[in-house]
Amino acid sequence: MNEQYYELLKGKKVLVTGGLGFVGHNLVKTLSKDYGCKVIVVDDCSNSTEKAISEIASQVEFHRMSVLDTENFFPLLKDVNYIFHLACIQIAASGSLPFDDLNVNALSTLKILEHLRSTRLPKLERFLYTSSCSVYGSSTRLPASEEDPTRVLSNYAATKLLGEHYTLIYNRNYNIPVSVVRYSNIFGYGQSPRNPYCGVLGKFVHHALIGEPLKIFGDGEQTRDYTFITDAVDATILAAAHPMAYGDVFNIGTCVETSVNKLVELIRQYAPGIKVENIPERDIDNIRRRMIDIEKIHQKLGWAPKVGMQKGIQLTIDWYKSTL
Ligand SMILES: NC(=O)c1ccc[n+]([C@@H]2O[C@H](COP(=O)([O-])OP(=O)(O)OC[C@H]3O[C@@H](n4cnc5c(N)ncnc54)[C@H](O)[C@@H]3O)[C@@H](O)[C@H]2O)c1
Repeated sequence: MNEQYYELLKGKKVLVTGGLGFVGHNLVKTLSKDYGCKVIVVDDCSNSTEKAISEIASQVEFHRMSVLDTENFFPLLKDVNYIFHLACIQIAASGSLPFDDLNVNALSTLKILEHLRSTRLPKLERFLYTSSCSVYGSSTRLPASEEDPTRVLSNYAATKLLGEHYTLIYNRNYNIPVSVVRYSNIFGYGQSPRNPYCGVLGKFVHHALIGEPLKIFGDGEQTRDYTFITDAVDATILAAAHPMAYGDVFNIGTCVETSVNKLVELIRQYAPGIKVENIPERDIDNIRRRMIDIEKIHQKLGWAPKVGMQKGIQLTIDWYKSTL
């Protein structure tokens, strides 16, 4: 079993970039509450607010700053044990903000790695980079595994892959302790529907609850592999702690393919009156199918998702009902 690896994080000093974001604030809460970590959050609030961590504000050290502001950011890394690098420009913004996308998703990663190489922080146990399954593009083989070729179809996928490459190069060439995870469409608690980059499921649930039509880009037959937030956080922590994750890349998903039309059907069970509106696809809607192979993380780290679609949607609906 892998319980002893989770134990490695307990009470440690961790720094989370993008720690107010959707995944970031859920990770921060778990590390602070369940693992008793001393957590430093660095976020420039470009796609989030401090409210995300208000319930644990007194336990967490928050710095409103950009990861590109290295003069102020790097001193914070001095004696941390783990760095979780989540700060990002979202896929939907990556076409209109190509240089921000490059700077935040890739250049900041290179700068952190260079800093780690030159300073050799004595206490650092792992630098974890969060990448995306969008690097597979329209994969010809499903489920897509880590061994499959990448085929980037957006600026975001290109810069996420570049961030991955830098991370792995600094491991191979300079022995920086790293791990990389590739997330697949995370959904669940804490995704504000008012955020323009909120994932499809969060938007659908919110629109269903307030009686607005669910907007589907294209015919709705495009598929994704949806991962519930608690599973994503759990796998991220394990990938940072596990010795077998050192210097390697892992898919985090469920190996279940769900179409957008199927999502609507699942939500309809809880909100029978919902209406749907089909609208033209955007330039980033160029991936028809996605299903992710999770054998590697299962075999090497002993991880498997616990929350299925039905349960995840129910938990998400309950959360939106209690907060909106
Ligand atoms: N959510 C998903 O389904 C998904 C899928 C694949 C990969 N990922 C990756 O996971 C990570 C977290 O994604 P998320 O969904 O939580 O995104 P998010 O947009 O909710 O969070 C990103 C956070 O980074 C912050 N940020 C942006 N630029 C910054 C900068 N220059 N300095 C400091 N902070 C900055 C934003 O304010 C935001 O709080 C990202 O690296 C993303 O690429 C997420």
